[in-house]
Amino acid sequence: MKKQRVLFIGAGRMAEAIVAGLLETNKSKIEEIIVSNQRDEQRLKRLKQKYGVTTTHDWRFEVANSDVIVLAAPPAAHQNILGELSGFLTGQFVVTIAAGIGPSFLEEHLPLHTPVAWIMPNTAAAIGQSISLYAMGSFATEEHKKVLHMLLKGMGESQQCTEEEIHHLTAITGSAPAFFYQFAEHLIESTKGYGMEEKAARDLVIQMLYGSALMLKKEKEPAMLREQVTTPGGATAEGLKVFAEHRFGDIVQKAIEATNRKALGK
Ligand SMILES: NC(=O)c1ccc[n+]([C@@H]2O[C@H](COP(=O)([O-])OP(=O)(O)OC[C@H]3O[C@@H](n4cnc5c(N)ncnc54)[C@H](OP(=O)(O)O)[C@@H]3O)[C@@H](O)[C@H]2O)c1
Repeated sequence: MKKQRVLFIGAGRMAEAIVAGLLETNKSKIEEIIVSNQRDEQRLKRLKQKYGVTTTHDWRFEVANSDVIVLAAPPAAHQNILGELSGFLTGQFVVTIAAGIGPSFLEEHLPLHTPVAWIMPNTAAAIGQSISLYAMGSFATEEHKKVLHMLLKGMGESQQCTEEEIHHLTAITGSAPAFFYQFAEHLIESTKGYGMEEKAARDLVIQMLYGSALMLKKEKEPAMLREQVTTPGGATAEGLKVFAEHRFGDIVQKAIEATNRKALGK
């Protein structure tokens, strides 16, 4: 693969996470990173200082010299950006990270034969620990897939899916971290209820969740790990009984379905 010139349209949190990951894991494969936004001058200055990237408010002049264009602007901005971008493209690989904007939307709004892909990361991309889903467009080749893997590597782990699968699974990989954080918030509140200071309560709960997540990562068997903690008829079993009485599984399923209904505009 030749060294890549990567142009970012959008310079927010996700763009920064990808830039940071790229420089950490694949610097030798990068010719230049160009980052653009519409308004926020201070943000571009900071990114330039921190990562040594080129910055601009006008990405249009940079398209001709780019190999891959990463759309990191909000989903609602995509239609206009794609309309404008179409006039400048000469075969560049176009990748979006926007929620809900799959390869078929990109192909519909870009010139015929444009190679495209869609990445759905989550916020853990900022520390290189995302599980990112991705789908390739119909004109993307194996070479494009290599370029995509270069972008993905710095964000964490990844899995190829169909476009439809990504629409459904984003509730789990993208939104469920918020469910997990809410669980943490409730545990911290319970801990404080027993007289713990806020900081001590947070430290205690966070280390418990971190240790449990590492155990899960190592063993890969949540049911087995749950059973290890749960003596039949014991105290933990009594707590889990409350989850069962309130149909915890149904609550999780309903939350996933509600997220998907909203994301798919139903
Ligand atoms: N955050 C997440 O957890 C997450 C996860 C998966 C996917 N995503 C997707 O990642 C994308 C970016 O999210 P983010 O969290 O990084 O958002 P963000 O921090 O709000 O950044 C959005 C960036 O887009 C720029 N922008 C807005 N309108 C633009 C336009 N018309 N042309 C060019 N640049 C424009 C903004 O700068 P100016 O306002 O200065 O133009 C800003 O730099 C979104 O599409 C989102 O769906 C985010």
